[in-house]
Amino acid sequence: MVTQPVHHLDPLGADLHGEAQGLRSIGPAVLVELPAGIPAWAVTSHQLLKTLLVDDRVSKDPRRHWPAWIDGEYQDSWVAMWVGVTNMLSTYGTDHARLRKLVAPAFTARRTEALRPKVEQISGALLDALEVLQSATPGAVVDLQSAYAHPVPMQVICELFGVSEDARPDVARLIAMFMDTSAGPEQVAQLFGQIYQVLGDLIAAKRAAPGEDMTSVLVASRDEDGSTLSEVELRDTLLLTIGAGFETTVHLIGNAIHALLTHPDQLAAVRAGEVSWSQVVEETLRWAPSIANLPLRFAIEDIELPDGTTIRQGDAILAGFAGAGRDPEQHGERAEEFDPSRQISEHLAFGYGVHRCIGAPLARLEAEIALRALFERFPGLELAAKPDQVTPIASFISGGWSSLPVRLS
Ligand code: HEM
Repeated sequence: MVTQPVHHLDPLGADLHGEAQGLRSIGPAVLVELPAGIPAWAVTSHQLLKTLLVDDRVSKDPRRHWPAWIDGEYQDSWVAMWVGVTNMLSTYGTDHARLRKLVAPAFTARRTEALRPKVEQISGALLDALEVLQSATPGAVVDLQSAYAHPVPMQVICELFGVSEDARPDVARLIAMFMDTSAGPEQVAQLFGQIYQVLGDLIAAKRAAPGEDMTSVLVASRDEDGSTLSEVELRDTLLLTIGAGFETTVHLIGNAIHALLTHPDQLAAVRAGEVSWSQVVEETLRWAPSIANLPLRFAIEDIELPDGTTIRQGDAILAGFAGAGRDPEQHGERAEEFDPSRQISEHLAFGYGVHRCIGAPLARLEAEIALRALFERFPGLELAAKPDQVTPIASFISGGWSSLPVRLS
């Protein structure tokens, strides 16, 4: 039953934060319409989101807990790219625990720290190339998104999962398409066809010649004990972990670069050593989270909210991380301001509860290394466009920039 006016979320995410603020001013959870006519409760209050993320009455498994999906609705729409795959992100209870346990040990804080030299080497090599370019053509405009923010996490995750150099351009292109929340059925079907071809080739290659990488580890889990991981789960786990492993961190790095270049006082404070790179990363995650809105969760039973609203059994829920990140009840009156020197209060940009991000230590490590190295190498770095000429990527899920034109110096 519709209990509040239905808002249509902008499929292109042109003003994610304005939209989230508007929704929060109506209530902590507001019934919205997502592309393809999907109704969902958009939760933009930090406190309510945190509560729902650990509520056992909230599931992520559409096959068990979303009546519309079970009835065959929406299966060819953009939402299939998020809930129609079978991995830890779209499962509940023991299935979730089983799938998470296979991957999480590879991303502990200790294992991640061991990757530091590799991340430094990758960032350094990319900066060397940019320096050569800058010397050859001083003053040239470079897109830092494609020349730096993207390749750092992409190269790291591809090395971890043993993705060949040849396959990387396809992986990058196809994963970016998962963020396109305006995609129609034809585009969705094509995307699944292409990404499953690439992942199928990767699995076959590792089966034929296993290596030290994570794909080989998962293939071995599948082959040694088929009850641990089905073939579909293996494929969809690779899709999630490789995709989430770079696309999100690309935007963390890009968002931090953009924030610093458009807040010169804050950048000066970082340069003066008054603010650490870790503070920059945490503030960027709060203020401009790479996952702005995450589809979808489902109410297993009626859930009555503190304001008297009821989320009915079977209703879908959209986790509004962008809204929560700027919620003044959590972050104070200046929640809308980017200020890395603020007393950091907890943010939810990596989620919370059983589905919390397994890659958070890696994302933090990559972003800190990449940002420090970039701003040390090019102390005169500046945006080569007016801030309002830099365009956000077309998605209400992903919060980031389509390009970052800069001048290096
Ligand atoms: C800035 C970078 C990142 C952000 C903002 C981010 C954000 C998130 C969020 C919000 C969730 C929770 C989803 C939910 O509640 O349903 C999540 C889960 C997840 N993230 Fe990340 N992530 C980032 C980087 C990474 C990296 C580097 C990896 C590498 C493997 C990764 C892998 C995952 C996986 C596998 C899950 C699913 C966990 C589960 O459902 O149990 N993420 N991430």
